[in-house]
Amino acid sequence: MSNMKTTETKLTPFARDVLTGLEKENKSLPSKYFYDEEGDRLFQQIMNMPEYYLTRCEFEILAEQRNEICDAIGTTDAPFNLIEFGAGDGLKTKLLLKHLTDINADFTYYPVDISSNILNELKTGLKVEFPSLQVNPVHDDYFGALRQMEYFNKRRNVTLFLGSNIGNFHYDEAAVFLQQFVAGSRAGDMLLLGVDLKKDPKVISLAYDDPHGITAAFNLNLLTRMNKELGADFNPADFRHYTCYEPASGEVLSYLISLNDRQVYFRELDRTVSFKKNELIHTEISKKYTLEELEKLALSQGLELVSHFMDNKNYFTDTLFKI
Ligand code: TRP
Repeated sequence: MSNMKTTETKLTPFARDVLTGLEKENKSLPSKYFYDEEGDRLFQQIMNMPEYYLTRCEFEILAEQRNEICDAIGTTDAPFNLIEFGAGDGLKTKLLLKHLTDINADFTYYPVDISSNILNELKTGLKVEFPSLQVNPVHDDYFGALRQMEYFNKRRNVTLFLGSNIGNFHYDEAAVFLQQFVAGSRAGDMLLLGVDLKKDPKVISLAYDDPHGITAAFNLNLLTRMNKELGADFNPADFRHYTCYEPASGEVLSYLISLNDRQVYFRELDRTVSFKKNELIHTEISKKYTLEELEKLALSQGLELVSHFMDNKNYFTDTLFKI
């Protein structure tokens, strides 16, 4: 970067993270910034694509096994907090909420999301569908929400972390996340963890590189967001979306590739970033696990396995852990 402003004004977290990510030798951007209003809309389209099996598999698990899941959690035992990391549009969670309200479970729902836009939509929707449900939205990222958890009321915590969002961490980061989660939990708390499983690599590749171009638009929207919020002058047509799945590590890696040498000016930051032809910006990891790898990860952080709930194809698991 050049043109460093001498009087550095206070940067937003987005501005700070963009600067850090684009200053690195191997450029990267944190994937949590995908989810502005346009990103939310595009991600909802991704979840509706035939190739993106993840959402449908997990929907099937929750639709068909919610009784067993709620029994295993013990949702009628005592009042509890239902915390959900990365709640999004709540499409799948509403299946559980419906069941829990039907059986008169006593709980407060704490949806956590990085997108204030989707949280507002969720809250409005829940008011209509579940008028008596107690909802306390938490607008924060995962680690921020972990720090807030101790301020929730002192009932048992039942946490949902669905959608294979844990796959958006590298293995070591996932371990740190679970470690902090366990540190902030009490004996008897529970975690329902949605994890996409290793499978035919072709199936996984297609889910992240669809022929409709929706995933590409979703990834490229990060550039548009920097234009909107940081006054950058990216032309999204100058970059291409690229993903690859490496079946041994189980990692889908997503990138934006600069098609030419270019300079991008960030008006709000008064900085210029240079890109070389074919230079990459790493934007996302979506890691897939085997059941054994998942158990090893969770047990190493002190979680106790209760049960795996899987779809008919064994593509996806919602695994229940106990602290
Ligand atoms: N969290 C989603 C996932 O990992 C997000 C996602 C889907 C994504 N497709 C993508 C991120 C393509 C980047 C590129 O499954």
